[in-house]
Amino acid sequence: MTYKENFSDKKKFHITTFGCQMNEHDSEIMAGMLIEKGYVQTDNREEADIVIFNTCSVRENADKRFFGTLGQLKHKKMQQKEAFTVCVCGCMMQQQHVVDTIKEKYPWVDVIFGTHNIHELPKLLDNLHTEQIKQIDVWEDGREIVEDLPAKRLFRHKSFVNIMYGCNNFCSYCIVPYTRGRERSRKPEDIVKEVRMLAADGVKEITLLGQNVNSYRGRSDAGETDFADLIYMLADIEGIDRIRFMTSHPKDLSDKLIDAFRNCDKLCKYIHLPVQAGSDAVLKDMNRKYTADDYRTLVKKIRAAVPEIAISTDIIVGFPGETEEDFEETLKLVRETEYDSAFTFLYSIRKGTPAARREDQVPEEVKHHRFNRLVEAVNESSAKKNHAYIGRIERVLVDGTSRSKEGTYEGRTDSFKLVNFTGEAGLEGKIVPVKITGANTFSLTGETADSLKL
Ligand code: SAH
Ligand code: SF4
Ligand code: F3S
Repeated sequence: MTYKENFSDKKKFHITTFGCQMNEHDSEIMAGMLIEKGYVQTDNREEADIVIFNTCSVRENADKRFFGTLGQLKHKKMQQKEAFTVCVCGCMMQQQHVVDTIKEKYPWVDVIFGTHNIHELPKLLDNLHTEQIKQIDVWEDGREIVEDLPAKRLFRHKSFVNIMYGCNNFCSYCIVPYTRGRERSRKPEDIVKEVRMLAADGVKEITLLGQNVNSYRGRSDAGETDFADLIYMLADIEGIDRIRFMTSHPKDLSDKLIDAFRNCDKLCKYIHLPVQAGSDAVLKDMNRKYTADDYRTLVKKIRAAVPEIAISTDIIVGFPGETEEDFEETLKLVRETEYDSAFTFLYSIRKGTPAARREDQVPEEVKHHRFNRLVEAVNESSAKKNHAYIGRIERVLVDGTSRSKEGTYEGRTDSFKLVNFTGEAGLEGKIVPVKITGANTFSLTGETADSLKL
C-alpha cells in the first residue's frame, strides 16, 4: 500500500453548503472526488476527519452563519491537530477581505480555495498531508473548464448539470460576477455526454444550471448552439423525462425558448424569472436593462404561449434610493403578475459592488416594513395559485418520504409545486399520478390516483 492510500484510508468528511444550487452542485462534485479517493461521507460533523464549508456571499446571513459555525470547530481543531482538517471554499473565498479575515482570526483553518478550482481539492489535501502546511489557493477567474469530475448526487433520480459558469451582467447590487468570474459555456457535446451518463445511472430529471442560462453559447466543430438548441438536444436522450433550468435573465429570454416550452414535452412548465423590482428608476439603477413594462410584456407572451406555466421570481426590497412610490410599483407588479412563488430579499450591502458605495441606503426599519408588506402580497398570490390545483391530477416525481409528516411522500409536479401525498410503498424516484386534495401557501397535499386523467 502506498503512503497516500494508507493516509486516506476510511477518512470521514463532512460538507456544509451555504449557497445556491450551483454551490450545492459544487459540493456534490467535491464529495464525488473525495469518495473516489477512498474517503467516506458522514452527516455528523463531530465525527468527521475533514470538514468543508462551501460558502455563499449572497444569501441573507450566510456569512454570519458561516463564521459562527466555523468558530465552533476551534476546540476540536486544537484537540485533534493534524488529525482534523478544516477546509473553507466557495464564493466568500473569492473576496480578498474574507480570506484576510480567516488568516487573521481563524489561523487554524488548513485549506482555503475558491470557486474556480474545486477540482484541486484532492491535490490540496495531499499536499497538506505530506508537507503539513496551510494550503491557500484562490484563482481570480476561471481558466479552462474542467470536465469529467465525478459527483455524489443528493438524489438518485435527479441531478444538477452545470451548462455555464460565471456572469457578465454586473447587476449593481450583486457580487456573483466577482465571485464566479466571467461567463463561460460548456461545450454541448460535453453536456450531452454527462446527461447520457446520468440517464444510464437512473436519473430522470435534470436541472440545467447557470447564472443566466439564456446567454448560453456552446461552441463546437458543428457551430454554435444556443440554449433552446441545447434543450432539444438533451430532450432526445432516452431516460430523461424532465428538464428544468435556473436562472433566466428577462433581458435575454428568446422567442425560441418560449417555443421550446410549447414544442418540448420534457421541458417542465415552470420558469424562474427574477424581476428584482417594479420601478423603472430602481431597475435602471440596478443595471437590469429592462423596464417594468418590458417584463410585463414578456410574462404575457410566455403565458399566451404556455397558459399552464408556473412563474416564480426574485425581488429585492430596499435597494439604495428606493422610495415608497418605487416600492409600491413593485407591489403593483407582484399583484398583477400573480406569481406562483417568490424569493424575497432585503437589500444588503456587498462590498465591492457599485450599489454598496451609494450614500442613499434605505434605513433598516423602512426595509423591514416594506419587506413584510411584500411577503404578504406574494403569499396571497401563491395561495391563490396553489388553490387552483385542487381536484387536478398531477404527475409527481417522488423525492422521498416527507420530512414534515410521517407516512407521507413528498415530490414535485411538472410546475415545481411541492406535494405531500399518501401512497403505497416503494414510490421513491418514480413519476406517479397524484390527485391534489388540498393546498396551502407553500405546498399541495394529495393522494396517489389510479391513472392520469389530465
Ligand atoms: N443569477 C441569478 C441570481 C443570482 S443571486 C439571477 O440573475 O437571477 C440570487 C438572488 O439574490 C438575486 O436574484 C437577487 O434577488 C438576490 N441578491 C443578490 N445580491 C443581493 C444583495 N446584495 N442584496 C439582496 N439580495 C441580493
Ligand atoms: Fe448577479 Fe445579475 Fe449576474 Fe444574476 S444576472 S448573477 S443578479 S449580476
Ligand atoms: Fe450561489 Fe451564493 Fe455564490 S447564491 S453563486 S453560492 S454567492
